[in-house]
Amino acid sequence: NSEVFILAIESSCDDTAAAVLQNDKVLSNVVANQLIHTQYGGVVPELASRAHQQNIVPVIDAALKKANIQKEQLSAIAFTQGPGLMGSLLVGSSFAKSMAIALNIPLIAVNHMHAHILAHFIDEEGFEKPEFPFLALTISGGHTQIVRVDGFFDMTIIGETTDDAVGEAFDKSAKILGLPYPGGPLVDKNAQTGNPLAFKFTKPKVAGLDFSFSGLKTAILYFIQKKKLENENFVSENMNDICASIQYTIIEILMDKLKLAVKETGINRIAIGGGVSANSGIRKTLKEGEQKYGWKTYIPKFEYTTDNAAMIGIVGYQKFLNKKFETATVVSKARIQF
Ligand code: KG4
Ligand code: ZN
Repeated sequence: NSEVFILAIESSCDDTAAAVLQNDKVLSNVVANQLIHTQYGGVVPELASRAHQQNIVPVIDAALKKANIQKEQLSAIAFTQGPGLMGSLLVGSSFAKSMAIALNIPLIAVNHMHAHILAHFIDEEGFEKPEFPFLALTISGGHTQIVRVDGFFDMTIIGETTDDAVGEAFDKSAKILGLPYPGGPLVDKNAQTGNPLAFKFTKPKVAGLDFSFSGLKTAILYFIQKKKLENENFVSENMNDICASIQYTIIEILMDKLKLAVKETGINRIAIGGGVSANSGIRKTLKEGEQKYGWKTYIPKFEYTTDNAAMIGIVGYQKFLNKKFETATVVSKARIQF
């Protein structure tokens, strides 16, 4: 039987996720979000690991049931090794280890950031898989990287943030505007009916392909404080324009670096991944790059952009084919070598 069935588990941050893949096809992709963090304005690690413990068994059961697969049919278990919150990672890895031992099947460790990139190799109707080599822009709440991808296990970071991640820039700006956590999707929503050129924020000057976003957050904070002195209702009266202008500036920063990366590498295939690639402005601007700059762009299906287990499963499948297995002594890593 040449069919490979992978159960994948992702628990690096605040979402508990499980998926079942048959080769490179997703049979089920289940995510339990943790709403508890909203009231704290950010992810509380201790609460996240507790919620993972409650969610992991029901989420895995649901993934197997939805895929109509018995656990005895599984070929291997893949889990997120890192990067992420240690307490959260441990719940997923401990469960994966126990299950692999009980079923006597291989255990596969997956780097979360590799998974955001390789999510493009999930077989999905209407979505094309990128050809190697390509550039991947991974933008999430914890990371901002430009990666040169030469093969499934041959990736090099050629640019990354020197401070905040893009997702943080969105979330922290949103917080300044009084929007609830995580604010990124709300900035996106408000921006759709706002004028992106209403307010101007200066872009940081960072050499090469690296990024910086902490200055932008400070610039927005000072701008809002100043405007509020003149008109205390400034934010509510201009919410959509402010959001559109912030989003426009962030997209400009990303596009400037992408253009430079294409110039330096000579590679014009660009794939995006990570939670922030759900942003409608980023998707639209990137797509326009095909006409404008002759790029070929790859934008994943929405459910594979934010944290999910299907992306862990596709890396698991590739590692299974290459027999890249772990023993049960493998450890979770909050920080992991790319
Ligand atoms: O990849 P992800 O789900 O988790 C991490 O690994 O960090 O990314 C979450 C981040 C959050 O910062 C969230 O605000 C941002 O992705 N995000 C967005 C949008 N949807 C999610 N940011 C801007 N626009 C969106 N539509
Ligand atoms: Zn992520």
